[in-house]
Amino acid sequence: MNAHDSEKVVGTLLSEGYSQVPTPEEAELVFYNTCSIRDKAEQKVFHRLDQFKKTHGNGKKFAVLGCVAQQEGEKIFDKAPHVSMVCGSASYNQLPRMLVQLEAGNRRVTGLSLDTDATFDTPLTRRDHPHRAYITIIEGCDKSCAYCVVPFTRGPERSRTSASVIAEARQLAAMGYTEIQLLGQNVNSYRDPSSAGWDFAKLLDEVGRVPGIRRVRFTTSHPRDFVKSIVDAIDANPALCNHVHLPVQSGSTRILDAMQRLYTREEYLQRIAWMKAATRPIAVTSDIIVGFPGESEADFEATLDLLDAVGYDALFSFKYSRRPNTAALALADQIPEEEKTRRLAIVQERQRSIQIARNAAYVGSVEECMVEGFNKATGQWMGRTSQHKTLNFLYAGAADLNGQYVHVRVTRSGPNSLAGECIQ
Ligand code: 5AD
Ligand code: SF4
Repeated sequence: MNAHDSEKVVGTLLSEGYSQVPTPEEAELVFYNTCSIRDKAEQKVFHRLDQFKKTHGNGKKFAVLGCVAQQEGEKIFDKAPHVSMVCGSASYNQLPRMLVQLEAGNRRVTGLSLDTDATFDTPLTRRDHPHRAYITIIEGCDKSCAYCVVPFTRGPERSRTSASVIAEARQLAAMGYTEIQLLGQNVNSYRDPSSAGWDFAKLLDEVGRVPGIRRVRFTTSHPRDFVKSIVDAIDANPALCNHVHLPVQSGSTRILDAMQRLYTREEYLQRIAWMKAATRPIAVTSDIIVGFPGESEADFEATLDLLDAVGYDALFSFKYSRRPNTAALALADQIPEEEKTRRLAIVQERQRSIQIARNAAYVGSVEECMVEGFNKATGQWMGRTSQHKTLNFLYAGAADLNGQYVHVRVTRSGPNSLAGECIQ
C-alpha cells in the first residue's frame, strides 16, 4: 500500500508541474514516505532524516509522508527542523494545497487529519511496474487488532465506488496492463458506497471480467470478513489468481482472542477448508506474529501445528513489537526478546520444510507465467505463476518475453522458488 501511495504522490506532483529526478541528491524537494507497522520505525526515520541533512546540505525542502508522519505529527518539526512538511496518508488528497503553502515559504505545513471520508484517487498515478498495476479499493481500517497501529495512522475505512474502480481497471487495460492487484487494509470489508451496492466478491469478479485483464490479485484479507462467495468467485473466474493471502497471526484461539482478531482457530480453518474444496488449486499464504504478550509454549505449539494443518505456500513471520497507542501495550507478560527470536527461528524452519514439500509437488507440471525479467547472471527468465510462485526458466528463443504470458515446464524446486524450461 505504501508503494502505491508513493506512485499516487508522484502522479500528483507531476500533475502539479514538478518533474522527477533519478536520485534524492538531485532533488530540490525530497518526499520521504514512511511505514510504522513494526520495529523501531520512528528511530529509523529520524536517523535517515539526519543523514539527508548531512548529505544534502541546506536549501532543499523535505517532506515526511506516511504512517510515521501521522504518528509523530508536528514533533517531527522539532526533532528534524529541516523538514517543512508532514503529511499522513489520509491527507494526500490535500497535497496540491499543501504544495502551494510549501512553495510560499511556509516552514511547517501539515496534513494530519484522519477525519476524512474521501479516498485518494488520482488519474495521474505514475506506475512503477510496466505490466502490473495497483488499484486501491478501500482505505483505512475499522478493526482494532490489539497489536496494530494502522487504525491510528490510516484512519477509518472508506471504500471507493465500484464504478470508479471498474473505470480505473478499464483505463489500465487500455494502457496495456494485464495484471491488477486490488489493495486495501481489509479488502473483504469493501462496501460499494454507490447504489450498485457491490460487495468484495462481486467487485473482484467484475474486475476479472474487464477485457484485457488476465490476472487479478488482492491483498489483504481479514479472516473474519473472508466469506465463501470470494472462493466461489475465484473458482469460477480464471482471471482471478489462484492465491489468497489470509493472515492468521496465531494458531491459538486464546491468543487470537487477546489479539482481538474476532475469529477462532476453528473458524479460520473453516475458511481454509473452503479453499481446499475448490476445484482450482488455490495457494494460501499468511502472516504470523510470535511472542505476543502472554503467548505460552502451548500457544506457540498451536501455531506450529496450524502451519502443518494448513500447509501454507509462503509465510511472513514477525516478532511481536510494541506499537504506540495500541491496546497490547497495556498487557502484562511481555515475552523476552531472546524467546521471541527463538520462536521466530522455529516457525521459519518449520515453514521452510513445508515449502520444500509443497514446491516439490509442482515438478513435472506445466505452469503459465507472467514474465517479469531476465537474470543475466543465471541466464534465466523470471516469471510468476497464478499462485504467485516465482518460476525461473530457460528459454532458447530470442524474443523479449517481458510482460508476456508463457508456459513453463517445472523441472526443479526449492523452498522459495521453482525452476523450469519454457515450452512455448
Ligand atoms: N508486531 C509484529 N508484527 C506486526 N504486524 C502488524 N503489527 C505488528 C506488530 N505490532 C504484522 C502482522 C500483519 C503484518 C502486515 O505485519 O502479521 O499481518
Ligand atoms: Fe491492523 Fe487488524 Fe486492521 Fe489488519 S485488520 S490493518 S492487523 S487492525
